[in-house]
Amino acid sequence: MPKIPLVDVRAQYAPLIPELQQAFADVLDQGQFVFGPNVAAFELEAAAYLGVPETIGVGNGTDALVLVMDAMGIGPGDEVICPAFTFFATAEAIARRGATPVFAEIDPSTCNLDPEDVAGRITSRTRAIMPVHLFGRPARLDDLAALGLPLIEDAAQAFGSADIAGHGVASTFSFYPTKNLFALGDGGLVGVRDPELAERIRMLRFHGSKAKKMFEYVGYNSRLDEIQAAALRIFLRHLDEWTRLRREAAARYRELGLGDLVEVPDDEPGHVYHLFVCRSPQRDAICSALAERGISTATYYEPPLHLQPALAYLDYGLDSLPVTEQLARDNFSVPIWAGIDADTQEQVVDAVREAMTVSVS
Ligand SMILES: Cc1ncc(COP(=O)(O)O)c(C=O)c1O
Repeated sequence: MPKIPLVDVRAQYAPLIPELQQAFADVLDQGQFVFGPNVAAFELEAAAYLGVPETIGVGNGTDALVLVMDAMGIGPGDEVICPAFTFFATAEAIARRGATPVFAEIDPSTCNLDPEDVAGRITSRTRAIMPVHLFGRPARLDDLAALGLPLIEDAAQAFGSADIAGHGVASTFSFYPTKNLFALGDGGLVGVRDPELAERIRMLRFHGSKAKKMFEYVGYNSRLDEIQAAALRIFLRHLDEWTRLRREAAARYRELGLGDLVEVPDDEPGHVYHLFVCRSPQRDAICSALAERGISTATYYEPPLHLQPALAYLDYGLDSLPVTEQLARDNFSVPIWAGIDADTQEQVVDAVREAMTVSVS
């Protein structure tokens, strides 16, 4: 076990264990484990929180993307533009639908899709743009929406940001246990405005069926279960406080001078700091030095998606997305979670400072 983990999920839910136990006991008493009252209530509470008319609980964030594209009729012959600097699931979902992921460059200062580059990749086959609110920072939705194509927001890492959900045709979320709003296992959600699209997604998540025994589409089995929904309802009530604590931790890294040593993310009001991702040409030396001191770091999306073996058929090749490739080479994240304390953060910054001194001298 590292002395300082990258994220301490247990520290976040530990004070809520008695409340969770009671909620789980209630589910056990009731004996309804799928499509129960907690899922129905969570869907309403999440919709109110996100400011969208409807949300649909699903099995995970990957399925959420697949279901939305299926409901939109996106499939073979269609193109969907997305970043190559994101978790594999973003492009995987497009390919899973038999459509073609088209990778666009990112803006290095935000790590999110660069709308100008996206514009240059639109063809007659483009059916949608899939921005990712990476690391918890909202993508430039207004500029992307101005391109005139439907937006499917991959908001897996950004639940809690006021600046997402609603601009797009749909927003998808993952409740993987390290996410800002998390389940105690897998879970996902789709937020939608159009009631017809919502209805189709709702049916697709249960084998394309509205009423038992009648199957109108070939669908999936991808449901949020009752135990996870019971936990999510409790966690949703704490999310704003957790976001406040994450923002406080981000501000503290800046106050401690981390930005004098490495490039740190800009202070942006909509950022919910799922991760605190820095950049440095000495990235590898810093990460090894921190590991020696028992401090966890992580690096992201190297190789980026256009260079992943599973997507080699798309024929991108090295140097085809230079901004993305450079970011993949020099990024690293430092520990952050809701409630990380000042002393822990100081140890992290001291370790980075020492690593830089050693690697420069
Ligand atoms: C950007 C992004 N998209 C999609 C997913 C997929 O979510 P899940 O793991 O719940 O399937 C993840 C998360 O893990 C993610 O980070």
